[in-house]
Amino acid sequence: MSLRNSVQLNRKRKQLGSGEWRILQRRGLPPPCDAGYNEGWALSGPWRVLRVGSDPRRFMIKAHRITAENVDALAPLYQRFSESAKPDYHWSYDPVDFEPFKKSIAAKILQGYWVEDTSVDRPVGLMLYRQEDHRALEINVIYSELEDKKTILDRLIRLFIADIRDTEGWDVVSYAMLGKQEHFIRSICWYGFKPVGQAILNFDFMDTIALQILKQQKLELPGPEYQIDTWKPEYAGEVSQSVFESFSKSSDAKWDPRFRTLTGTRKVVGALTYGMMGKFLPACTTVALKDGVPVGFCFLVQDDVTSGNIPLIGVRPSETGKGLGNLLLQACIERCIDDMLAGNNSVLKITTTMDTDNIAAIKMYRRMGFREEYNYPHVYLTREKALAYQPGKWC
Ligand SMILES: CC(C)(COP(=O)(O)OP(=O)(O)OC[C@H]1O[C@@H](n2cnc3c(N)ncnc32)[C@H](O)[C@@H]1OP(=O)(O)O)[C@@H](O)C(=O)NCCC(=O)NCCS
Repeated sequence: MSLRNSVQLNRKRKQLGSGEWRILQRRGLPPPCDAGYNEGWALSGPWRVLRVGSDPRRFMIKAHRITAENVDALAPLYQRFSESAKPDYHWSYDPVDFEPFKKSIAAKILQGYWVEDTSVDRPVGLMLYRQEDHRALEINVIYSELEDKKTILDRLIRLFIADIRDTEGWDVVSYAMLGKQEHFIRSICWYGFKPVGQAILNFDFMDTIALQILKQQKLELPGPEYQIDTWKPEYAGEVSQSVFESFSKSSDAKWDPRFRTLTGTRKVVGALTYGMMGKFLPACTTVALKDGVPVGFCFLVQDDVTSGNIPLIGVRPSETGKGLGNLLLQACIERCIDDMLAGNNSVLKITTTMDTDNIAAIKMYRRMGFREEYNYPHVYLTREKALAYQPGKWC
């Protein structure tokens, strides 16, 4: 080390608080993601100083890929995560049992990482993701049993990014950060993820105020050429075109590449109407027609015993602002209530998810009596950002 660098290093040492762990490492040799370092700042010259904070256990945290060979070690951790999935992560369903989970890992349907605390020799964290058909990697969960969630996230995400950078077949990583994930939310953008605020709203059929609000609406069609109908299979082509036009620039298109192309939106409409996103309710799915051609849509599926969901509602950009969104939504709810009263479905509440800054959608849902239940960030990482990521640098 040159004298100049040695002087600089001593200066830096003094700047570091007492009790903090310091590691000097040769420049050009970045720490492996599971080596137990948190990077701080670099000195000029051949040395870099890495701040690792005051907790020596950070050295003991290592991330590993989950494989068919090591998955058995995760049984107790997976069990504890499963118990917290519904209350803490707002999962609609319990995760699969451990045996089917193991099979999914062996078949690479599900992939992921686990984090080991080598000081106590046990797994303390988990991350699971799957490759979706639509060129998206969907993270199912990031779970930590350590207080130091940032370190857990750091080990997991670095290894994940290092792996996926060399993998083809994906354009975007997507993670709906539902439930108690405050610690992850605050740090995940370090790795190039971008957040979009999402609001979950619901219309409760047992809420008499919501029903009053709905009843009081006096809405009119914008002209004699317009009509609100229910779903017919022959509308599929033009409805797909409407979905494409209204969603290609939406946030959904950021983490679900299907919305960026007409072919992709056709697949979404196909998946919806074939019941792959819950039981499709054609009698309650409404379509706005102009001269007999679909220009707007409001899909309804039943995603639980007593719960309906609006996965998509939209109006072609050339037809927005004319009241069609309000009309589609009102007709959808009313038909669902009528069908429920007639014993044709068991839906008692309708939920939906929308961007927190989608003013038109907020106005539309509130006007019909929907209430906001809670908000959460949906984060996504593009391939471009993953390739640009450099450990220790703001992305
Ligand atoms: C949200 C959407 C369906 C609304 O359709 P629309 O036909 O324009 O809706 P309406 O004309 O009935 O208007 C609904 C409310 O939004 C308001 N609105 C419509 N466009 C607006 C705009 N650009 N800015 C602010 N408010 C707007 C209307 O004034 C109305 O409020 P009001 O009833 O209190 O007057 C439509 O904008 C759309 O397709 N957006 C893209 C897809 C999407 O975001 N879907 C929702 C999430 S799944």
